[in-house]
Amino acid sequence: PSQKTWGGRFSEAASDLMQRINASISFDKRLWREDIAASKAHAAMLRDQGIVGQADAAAVLEGLDQISREFERDGVPERVELEDIHMTVEHRLAELIGPAAGRLHTARSRNDQVATDFRLWVRNACDEAVGAIHGLQRALVERAEDHADTVMPGFTHLQVAQPVTLGHHLLAYFEMLQRDVSRFSDARTRMNESPLGSAALAGTSFPIDRHEVADALGFERPTANSLDSVSDRDFALDYLTAASQCSLHLSRLAEELIIWTSQQFGFVKLPDAFSTGSSIMPQKRNPDAAELVRGHSGRILGCLTSLMVTMKGLPLAYSKDMQDDKEPVFEARDLLALSLEALAGMIETIEFVPQRMADAAALGFSTATDLADWLVREAGVPFREAHHITGRAVKAAEDRGCDLADLPLDALKEIDARIDERVFDVLSVDASVRSRTSYGGTAPERVREQVAAAKVDLGL
Ligand code: ARG
Repeated sequence: PSQKTWGGRFSEAASDLMQRINASISFDKRLWREDIAASKAHAAMLRDQGIVGQADAAAVLEGLDQISREFERDGVPERVELEDIHMTVEHRLAELIGPAAGRLHTARSRNDQVATDFRLWVRNACDEAVGAIHGLQRALVERAEDHADTVMPGFTHLQVAQPVTLGHHLLAYFEMLQRDVSRFSDARTRMNESPLGSAALAGTSFPIDRHEVADALGFERPTANSLDSVSDRDFALDYLTAASQCSLHLSRLAEELIIWTSQQFGFVKLPDAFSTGSSIMPQKRNPDAAELVRGHSGRILGCLTSLMVTMKGLPLAYSKDMQDDKEPVFEARDLLALSLEALAGMIETIEFVPQRMADAAALGFSTATDLADWLVREAGVPFREAHHITGRAVKAAEDRGCDLADLPLDALKEIDARIDERVFDVLSVDASVRSRTSYGGTAPERVREQVAAAKVDLGL
């Protein structure tokens, strides 16, 4: 008979090929800390409930601590015939303490084990994501504070629209990231239930205490339905959804950095530390890190799609397809962590070029709306008519090849007699941004308030 765990039933060993397709140890070894923590909580509960004797339970708990020290020091051994992290730990435990090791698997199954380990791991990944997002937010807020008054063009359709402040623009990303933080913490709250003790699918006949185990592992409560517990991967999907949306934000910021560092824009200079050169063109300084952040977001979204598709047709309860849940989550976590760190590094160190931004802000008649607003405010013109008058002024400026602010007063008066010299007060880009004082607006004083509020949120 085979030496395998289920050797009682099987007379031949699995083929090499079967072992290769079946094994998950090469990647699920990342769950070793969670696996040992969950096993310790389970063993202590079995002892407290009198299901396993004191001496055997003590041997199990000591053995698990010993394994923890070994893995910490030497890494996790990868033996495909042991399949996964759960069997690897149990096998080592048997080597260390003998037959008492076999008592640990009372009233549990790998199905509730993996669901528990993975939840613990993903819960930690949520906390870690929040920490890393805060790092990027801190960088954004600090640069926004320095540039509360720096004028740049605001765009719609990537066409110059109205002048804004750089601080305001950077804080837009702070807001997106706030929502990401709330998505990760939402996901964490929702996933914080313990599946352990659901056993293979139906629960168990042993008098276990699932509440004790849940408490020991920092879960709010045990999950309510054993079938759901072992077949649910919503927690992983919630994490991947939050990660995808966050990486989408990072990709948009990366895209802006790429555009801003182009010669045509020249709003930003990348430091050497975050640029790469070209093997052929000596003059090049490329924003590769930003491009990779943009690229990685596609892969993270792919991870979400992959797990969605894995789960969508599965009947209750566990099917082995679900072993494919881990790699997309691990990949997304690694890509997101790297992206967040790299972007924070870039935001901290890039050099903004305020002169280029100010020059660009004046292009494209960006204060046309200010002229229309002036007509409404000072001459009582209905906005739609003011829009029309301003359109004629823009055309006049275009014909003369000058800016709106450079049109002679006579030319303006010819378009509409109600215009007088006070209009020039609102036609500069500085006047334009200073006037946008509505709540959430781009005026420097508003940006400073937003910075102050952001600092409170970040605990700065
Ligand atoms: N390695 C497996 C996984 O990751 C553990 C659960 C195995 N359960 C089973 N019934 N074969 O999903």
